[in-house]
Formats: sequence, C-alpha cells, structure tokens
Amino acid sequence: MIVLGIETSCDETGIALYDTDNGLLAHALFSQIDLHVDYGGVVPELASRDHIRKTLPLITKVLASAELEKTDIDAIAYTAGPGLIGALLVGATIAEGLSYALDIPVLGVHHMEGHLLAPMLEDNPPDFPFLGLLVSGGHTQLVAVEGIGEYQILGESLDDAAGEAFDKAAKMLGLDYPGGPRVAALAEKALANFNGTPYRFPRPMTDRPGLDFSFSGLKTFTLNTTQKLSQQGKLIEKDRAQIALAFEEAVVDTLRIKCKRAIQHTGYKRLVIAGGVSANKRLRHALDEMCSRLNAEVFYARQEFCTDNGAMIAYAGAQRLAVGQRDGMNIQIRPRWPMDTLPPIKSGVVTV
Ligand code: KG4
Ligand code: ZN
Repeated sequence: MIVLGIETSCDETGIALYDTDNGLLAHALFSQIDLHVDYGGVVPELASRDHIRKTLPLITKVLASAELEKTDIDAIAYTAGPGLIGALLVGATIAEGLSYALDIPVLGVHHMEGHLLAPMLEDNPPDFPFLGLLVSGGHTQLVAVEGIGEYQILGESLDDAAGEAFDKAAKMLGLDYPGGPRVAALAEKALANFNGTPYRFPRPMTDRPGLDFSFSGLKTFTLNTTQKLSQQGKLIEKDRAQIALAFEEAVVDTLRIKCKRAIQHTGYKRLVIAGGVSANKRLRHALDEMCSRLNAEVFYARQEFCTDNGAMIAYAGAQRLAVGQRDGMNIQIRPRWPMDTLPPIKSGVVTV
C-alpha cells in the first residue's frame, strides 16, 4: 500500500510517499523559517497561507521523484493535530479533497505519534516495548510505549516544552528563530574558544521524585544572567556562548536524569528520543552514554526526520491504515489532542 503523508501542523510543509512493502519512496520539505524569522517566531496566519501555496506543488514533486502518478496512491495520511488550527486545516482539506477525488481512504494522524515512530524509518528500528522521550517545540513527555497506540504518559512538562525553552533562551541571547540549533552552535563556541562555561544552571525538579519536567525556571535564570551582564555593559560574545552552554547542559542533564529514572522505574531496555530537540548532539551523546551504562539501547531518527516532516506522518498513518482505520468525509482537526487517547492498533478499532 502506498501512502501519501501530509504534514502542515506548524511552520514546515512536509510531504512523503511511504510504501508498506518497500519503505520510504520519496519525501520533500519546505521550511518557512525565512517567512517567520523577522517576527521572532511562527505567525499562524502566514504559516497557513504558505501551506496553501506549497502543499500541492510538493505533492507533485514527490510523485515525480518516486516516478508515480497520483492514481498510484492507495491512501492518504495527514496531520490532524496537535498544532496550529489554520495550518492543520490546510493539510486536512487538501487530504480530504484528494481522498474524495481519487476515491481512496484518508486518516488524520497524531503529530506526536508521527515523531515517536519516526525512528522506525531507520535501518535499525526499535522493537516494542520502549520508553519514549518526546522533546519538541510544544511537548516534553516521557511515554511508556507497549505498541502503536498503547501509550502511557509517565511524565511531562508542567510549563514550557524543552524546544520552547531553547527558543526563548535563544531570543534572550539575541539569536534568531528557531533557537534550538542556534543555541547549540553558540554553546559549541564556548567549548571551542572559551574553555567551557563557569556558569551552572539548575536541573529543575530533579531533586524530587517523579518524572515531570519544568523548564520555565531555566528561562528566568538565563534572563537574569544575561540582564545582569548587559546592565554592567559586559555581555560580550564569550558570555553569550558560555550562557548558551550552561543552558544547554542544564536542559540535557535534566532530560538525562529523568530518562535514567524512567528506565530504572519501567525496566525497559530501549529508549527512543524523538521530536525537534532529539536532533541535539549533546542530548544524543548524554543519553547514549547513560544508556550504555544501564545496558540499554538508544534510538533516534536521522537529523532531518527529528524535526517536522512528511515521512513520519506517512509512516504512522500507513500503520493505522493497514489495519483498516480511516476517517469519514468530515474534516476533524484537533489542535489539542492527548496522545494517550489514541486507539491501540491491535484492537482494530476503525476510526480515530
Ligand atoms: O518537532 P519540531 O520540529 O516541531 C514541533 O513539533 O514543535 O521541534 C521544533 C523544536 C524547536 O523548538 C527547535 O528550537 C528545537 O525543536 N530544535 C532543537 C534542535 N533542533 C531543533 N533544539 C535543540 N537542539 C537542536 N539541535
Ligand atoms: Zn513536531
């Protein structure tokens, strides 16, 4: 079965074709970063308008690169939530329209389930069960994953998501949106040129039991540190780099401590990290090291499939479409959608 995947939940238009027999056939992505950079973050109305411009041309492009016609598509999967309402509506209406025109099934997919399953597209995919660490711009969650749709949320952020914290810290350091990769690059400079960092930021909520997170305090810590220095007229490149490194170390260490606790609590031997922040090299390295000490294995997607993309939506949708799940003609997007309400695919429940 060849599934067309459509991702339009935020600031990336991602399109892919996934074949349940032959794997990923083609994918294409258009990032709207240039469109939003002057505003310091995603402007929802601009995002929706750009998805309208890009979705159909990208579908034509992936079909051409897979040397297929639209009549070769057997089913369509699109991101139905969570995400920006207008942006989601673009993908949903295009998916539903194509499904009607081509007379093929369509299914709305959960964006975070897409992220969680993205490492399945790699050569050495994880087996179930595993512990999932979802770290994106909107979510930070630890999830016990027994199978597709069998999710138990073990802990989550009580305030900012890890990616959101990166983006806000970036702003304070005078860096553009999206902040995560830019903070990481600046932190590298502290190591390469300035002997690391003298600052040590807190590891929030690690001194009490449980698996929840809180990242808003780190934002305040970053703000106070940068403000103090700039009031003294001392905020130079070296300080910015050292603050970036202290911030990144604090986020990574906090995630490591909570993942270790969750592995010890669940006894799982596999950890899957997914979502935009899983592209972070320091995080990957810290979790690789921690897991090898615990005799556990870490899995993550290739860099380009950590952040938003169509391949993860095509893959997640294909798994559910293959067991008969599909939506009707009503367009149902869910800007808020708890992942643990998804049906397990074993139960063969038809419709999400
Ligand atoms: O998964 P994603 O593309 O979109 C959402 O579903 O939110 O994640 C985007 C987030 C942004 O906050 C971005 O700053 C962060 O992932 N991010 C990173 C890195 N690359 C992207 N954070 C830290 N280090 C990175 N290398
Ligand atoms: Zn995402």
